[in-house]
Amino acid sequence: MKKIILCFLSIIFLVSCQHDKETNASLPVLTLKTNRIQIPLDSTFSYSSYILTASDKNDGDLTTQVTFNEINTHQLGSQTINYRLKNSHNQTVYKTLTVDVVKYYNEFFDPSNVLADYVDNPDDYQVLVNKTHALNENYKPDDLESVVDNDQQFLRHEANDAYTQLYNDAKEKGIEIYSISAYRSYEKQTFLWQNSLKQFGIAHSCQYNAYPGRSEHQLGLAIDVSNTLNDPLTEEVANSELGNFLENDAHKYGFVLRYPSNKTIVTNYAYEPWHIRYVGKELAKELHNAHMTLEEYYN
Ligand code: DAL
Ligand code: ZN
Repeated sequence: MKKIILCFLSIIFLVSCQHDKETNASLPVLTLKTNRIQIPLDSTFSYSSYILTASDKNDGDLTTQVTFNEINTHQLGSQTINYRLKNSHNQTVYKTLTVDVVKYYNEFFDPSNVLADYVDNPDDYQVLVNKTHALNENYKPDDLESVVDNDQQFLRHEANDAYTQLYNDAKEKGIEIYSISAYRSYEKQTFLWQNSLKQFGIAHSCQYNAYPGRSEHQLGLAIDVSNTLNDPLTEEVANSELGNFLENDAHKYGFVLRYPSNKTIVTNYAYEPWHIRYVGKELAKELHNAHMTLEEYYN
């Protein structure tokens, strides 16, 4: 009797698995080219150009069947488009695209109106923080230590060990290196952003300054270094021995040059040859060898 019941249950289980397989197999497929974009205020927007695939095993190409809500491109801020695709079996799938309607100054957009995603793993050495990925204003790492040549600048313990080695090796090679700015609190970043707005204006700020909560300096994993204490953070750093050393060797210590000259469109910041970010040796090597930014890595 037991055997019969067991056999019966197995048949039911197999039939239900098969049914699940068939149901899943016939779901339509909807994929977008990306899940977040920035567009200039008052620009025209092509909704269908962000659809990568809209199809169904039985119905074929369904691109023209995709429906979506419209956004207001004359209003600054972050909005969402919900794309919806239904097949002939009334099975529906959805995908969301976040559209930040922003003001551009050259290729750099003003982050003030962007509703950023809050990062939920701020202690992770590989975390992405940028104009659209923010840290909570209360976030402060709990393992900050002062850096080797400046007791007013701080990095997280592991990043600081790596930085000390980088610093000592640079010194041994006769390379001038000064720690200018490492950990910055949310309040400090707020002051810097507002000060930059007052002193240099919005276009410059969007190019060089992170909005409060959107700076890697708040992670305690980024440090600005210079070959001079006299006008320290200029593109001249790139032409110095230090610039060369950072470009070729920083990854060996777990750091990446976060804002390269040929990736300004991707990072949405100007070239900063002085800003290095700790991500750990393994990822730093991978990014360095692939000429990839953190943004591209996560895409
Ligand atoms: N200069 C970089 C973008 C920062 O402020 O974090
Ligand atoms: Zn920096």
